[in-house]
Amino acid sequence: MAFREYTIGVRMFGLAFGTSMFITLYMPASDIRNVSVTETGLERQLSFGRVGGFSYEDPLLQGKAKPATVDITEDPKTGAPIEPTRAYVYASGVPFPNGIRHPMILGKKPMELSLGQGKISMADEAQGAVFVVRTEDVGGETVGYIENATATRGWVPEAAMKVATQETTHYIGKGKIMFVREGCWWCHTLLPEQTQDWQYFGAPPMLGDFNGESPTAFGSDRKAPDLTHVGSRNSSKEWMIMHFFNPRLVQPHSIMPRYDYLWGENDAAGNPIDFDGWRAEYDKYVANERVYPPEVPVPAKDSEAHALIDFVLNLK
Ligand code: HEC
Repeated sequence: MAFREYTIGVRMFGLAFGTSMFITLYMPASDIRNVSVTETGLERQLSFGRVGGFSYEDPLLQGKAKPATVDITEDPKTGAPIEPTRAYVYASGVPFPNGIRHPMILGKKPMELSLGQGKISMADEAQGAVFVVRTEDVGGETVGYIENATATRGWVPEAAMKVATQETTHYIGKGKIMFVREGCWWCHTLLPEQTQDWQYFGAPPMLGDFNGESPTAFGSDRKAPDLTHVGSRNSSKEWMIMHFFNPRLVQPHSIMPRYDYLWGENDAAGNPIDFDGWRAEYDKYVANERVYPPEVPVPAKDSEAHALIDFVLNLK
């Protein structure tokens, strides 16, 4: 008798578990295939890399195994001048983003173009690749897709890095990891609310802006401005440097914490940063004993602060 109840229980558990897995795994996957990725969505996933949060490639969230985003005006293969182009450089071994691994999630038309014209299935993670976002007119509709420029134009990662300068190389993917790790989302959202927000903070995101991005960083709480378009309303790198080093330098009553520790040990010129000395001078400034605050060190190219600023300024 007791055994009969047991088998009923097992069946009921199996049914409940199976249904919940169907809802959790299958339904979203089939749903997203019906949505075409937007150009913003393509740029996002190519600049962030495979994941923009915790992963086994980077368990301590240091921003490892990430692509570089470069703005180039010279053909990496021939050296000839080209239209300004944004390219996403995946050095050998850097994991490809979800849209390259599973083109289905790009939606039907972007997938067909990315596989056909874009030749993304020829990209090889072990060798690395350079991608660009292209558009094509399909029956009066502009459709974005990914081009594997390594296959179509012979651009190899090392050559693409060479034609970019320090100023035009951005570590956006690493910066997103900093955004997640540092908990910016405790205060900021990356999703304007459907209120007056849209008038002030800019257009809401589109369906398709997030295909392939994992995880999204919408945030759930709002103690501070939405950052979805922050790079459009404030594109000053100097302001960002001061604000992240100590928000009170530019907003005297800001509740935002300092992120000066993301600067690391040395500044852009390679000189050690004297945090205690800086603080002592800043305290004098706050006590009205000096007129200007002390100068903020410029973050080094490979610092976490630099990557975070690259990420923030690219939120457009
Ligand atoms: C304790 C809450 C809090 C946290 C955590 C926080 N911020 Fe802020 N942030 C604010 C507030 C409040 C403002 C508005 C006042 C100011 O500019 O400082 C702000 C302003 C900003 C601005 C300028 C926004 C605009 O509209 O111009 C940026 C950019 C920004 N924060 C980025 C970040 C990033 C990146 C992180 C994580 C490294 C972060 N913040 C963490 C509270 C926070």
